[in-house]
Amino acid sequence: MRPFDRRRVLLGVTGGIASYKSAWLARLFGKAGAEVDVVLTAAAAEFIGRVTFEALTGRAVHTGLFDPGRALDHIKLAREAHAVVIAPATADFMARAATGQAGDLLGAVLLATKAPVLIVPAMNDAMWAHRQTVENVRHLSEALGYRVLPPDEGALAAGEGSGPGRMPEPETIFAHTGRLLEPDSPLRGKRVVVTAGPTREAIDPVRYISNRSSGKMGVAIAAAAWRRGADVVLVAGPLSVPTPTGVELREVETTEEMADAVAAELPAAAALIMAAAPADFRAATAATSKIKKKSAPSSIDLAPTRDILASTRGARAKNAVIIGFALETDDAIRGGREKLEAKSLDMVVVNDAREAGAGFGVDTNRVTLLGPNGQEEALPLLPKDAVADEILDRVETLLHERS
Ligand code: CTP
Repeated sequence: MRPFDRRRVLLGVTGGIASYKSAWLARLFGKAGAEVDVVLTAAAAEFIGRVTFEALTGRAVHTGLFDPGRALDHIKLAREAHAVVIAPATADFMARAATGQAGDLLGAVLLATKAPVLIVPAMNDAMWAHRQTVENVRHLSEALGYRVLPPDEGALAAGEGSGPGRMPEPETIFAHTGRLLEPDSPLRGKRVVVTAGPTREAIDPVRYISNRSSGKMGVAIAAAAWRRGADVVLVAGPLSVPTPTGVELREVETTEEMADAVAAELPAAAALIMAAAPADFRAATAATSKIKKKSAPSSIDLAPTRDILASTRGARAKNAVIIGFALETDDAIRGGREKLEAKSLDMVVVNDAREAGAGFGVDTNRVTLLGPNGQEEALPLLPKDAVADEILDRVETLLHERS
């Protein structure tokens, strides 16, 4: 299942230059499974054509309140939407929305809908800073209960320099819409700590010991947990993928730093999901200067690093759900069971690093979930996003059982 399957998103586009980015946003919604109804204001239609959205969504685009035969469109669209997203929202549109004006289709939809609403302003920085706009935004969010995603800082249109006013990237708006659409989850408001990526152990100031982890699996779990309403802390070594919207990032380099960051977060964590691949070894003594070729040693003495999961055993919050991974190359299930026991875990997610389509770097994974009473559940090859949702479904069940 994709996160937006069977979901209907109404995308309202108003007349700003950022509307070109809304075409990509419509595409992201569609790719995630949503049915997308686009409503363009008259001003938006000056910036971007309806054909663009019709081609991207495969559905008719709505514009006029009084188009022939469409007199009740606003009621139907408002009722059928699971979420309303207005991106970009101009200063003019927000002024009208703040006073409940229903003189055009989008204004009428906004009054008629009971769905959650996300407003994404984009405008010139002086217009954004104007006291009237500030007052309208406050009213829209505090009195009317709309979620307002503030604009980013950055280069503005027409060589206007830079300042707050830019519409956030479509991927960010998409993530916020996902959180808006999510049904109530036992994770909502809970603190979830996820680790991701490799760690690095210095050999000298320029060289290190590490592994092939990209961080994709942990990042997918962090993104999905945030979408379900959790407060997510992502403790990450150097990642090869962007960090997801909404999560608090704690960047670390070594296994010891990751262990310290996890220990600091643990007392408040309802769940810890250790998807990282911390380096198991470090150089027994790291050189403080670069080792020159002519004085290279024939071997490097290694010392073990701290086992992070094992070290959390005495410090876990009561009822916290603790999930580990087991990356194996031989006899994966047995290795996973041993880790479940040795590290006192609620579940181990086993994957085989040598299996095609699973393990490091790829966008898919084939995992087996092991539970404490001999439970064993082999999942098919799935995108990492879908594996993340499967894992979080189990975390929700465990949290629910313990509440
Ligand atoms: N892990 C950890 N601390 C480490 C190494 C691993 O907490 N120093 C965690 C991983 O994040 C994972 C689980 O322990 O959730 C198992 O990691 P894995 O690398 O499969 O196993 P190891 O415990 O390192 O054992 P081995 O390398 O011998 O298989």
